[in-house]
Amino acid sequence: MSVYALWNNKGGVGKSYLTFQVACEYARTHPDQRVLIIDLCPQANSSSMLLGGMVNGEVVIEQLSGSSPAKTISGYINDRIMSPYVNPHSGSLYVSKVNDYNAYVPDNLYIICGDEELEMQSSQVQLACTAGPADSWRIVHTWIRDLIEDVRKSWDQREITVFLDCNPSFTIYTELAMSASDRLLIPFSADGSSKRAVRSVLSLVYGILRKPGQIQSEFYLNSQQYRMKLPMIYSYIGNRLTQMNNSSASAFKNVVMDIFNEVFKVWQNNPALFYVHPTGEPAPTSRQGFRRMFEEQINDANTASVVSGAMGIPICRLTAGQKSFAGRTVIVNQSQLEKQQPNIADFVSKIE
Ligand SMILES: Nc1ncnc2c1ncn2[C@@H]1O[C@H](COP(=O)(O)OP(=O)(O)O)[C@@H](O)[C@H]1O
Ligand SMILES: [Mg+2]
Repeated sequence: MSVYALWNNKGGVGKSYLTFQVACEYARTHPDQRVLIIDLCPQANSSSMLLGGMVNGEVVIEQLSGSSPAKTISGYINDRIMSPYVNPHSGSLYVSKVNDYNAYVPDNLYIICGDEELEMQSSQVQLACTAGPADSWRIVHTWIRDLIEDVRKSWDQREITVFLDCNPSFTIYTELAMSASDRLLIPFSADGSSKRAVRSVLSLVYGILRKPGQIQSEFYLNSQQYRMKLPMIYSYIGNRLTQMNNSSASAFKNVVMDIFNEVFKVWQNNPALFYVHPTGEPAPTSRQGFRRMFEEQINDANTASVVSGAMGIPICRLTAGQKSFAGRTVIVNQSQLEKQQPNIADFVSKIE
């Protein structure tokens, strides 16, 4: 049980898709727990998949964001903009039970829905970081932790498992997500910009500089100043690597190796940034051991992934055959499902 953020400083690497798949599978395999997703991305892609997919999910998002106050992350952020430095303890008002809208997901899954309004609110959140008492920055960076705490209390649980879907860019919301999370999952794909993005994660969150004279991340400096916890790296996840396999096998392998070497170097110099998985095994001492513990790979499931997201059916529940959505009919093959279902199930089994 912990707070997991899915973040990489790049779009399209699978943050939202994996939030959807991983949260659903985690909830399915932990039926005695309640699982919370907080969608901190204004695009609300994971909310859309969770709440029923490209047709129904979008209708639900409109409905939740259109109510007054909005039953979304923006509703909560609005409370905090009104009362930045005094906790309103209103977080639990903004939770929706996902299964009320999408019968394909387990009934122990809850969401604070994403909202495009976040984009408009961000300048006010930024202002709140400097406008109040001396430690305004610190207080604002505990808003999402406060929200999680409100939900935990309202559920009367000692601990809850939370998944945070993040915006690709390092906006104020991504900062809030980093300050709220205990563990970081970093999806990446096999291209050059993904490599740069992984480096950015390491410098923006952990202050690991690449070259002399590089400007230090303000988030990192402030987190140090206020002694705020940073998330520990739990896994870095090569997503859809097989997609690149045929066209440019060697180039793709080089990029993946580069990313691996980059993260491995960080481990060698700062092992305390990584969360040793609770497998009973000791901290890895070799390259192979390191990769076994921290590296994941999720295959591309082609049409099956499209159908899963578009219909809001978690991949581990999706069956082969003809599927119709948004006026289209497509065929999901068993072989596509078999490419990804075991990856997701195996990865989730490693999440505490
Ligand atoms: N493993 C995968 N197999 C197939 N499609 C995937 C996979 N991961 C992500 N996708 C698709 O790739 C696109 C980008 O993923 P998304 O999760 O939206 O990225 P991000 O949130 O990082 O911007 C989406 O259309 C998503 O459905
Ligand atoms: Mg996304």
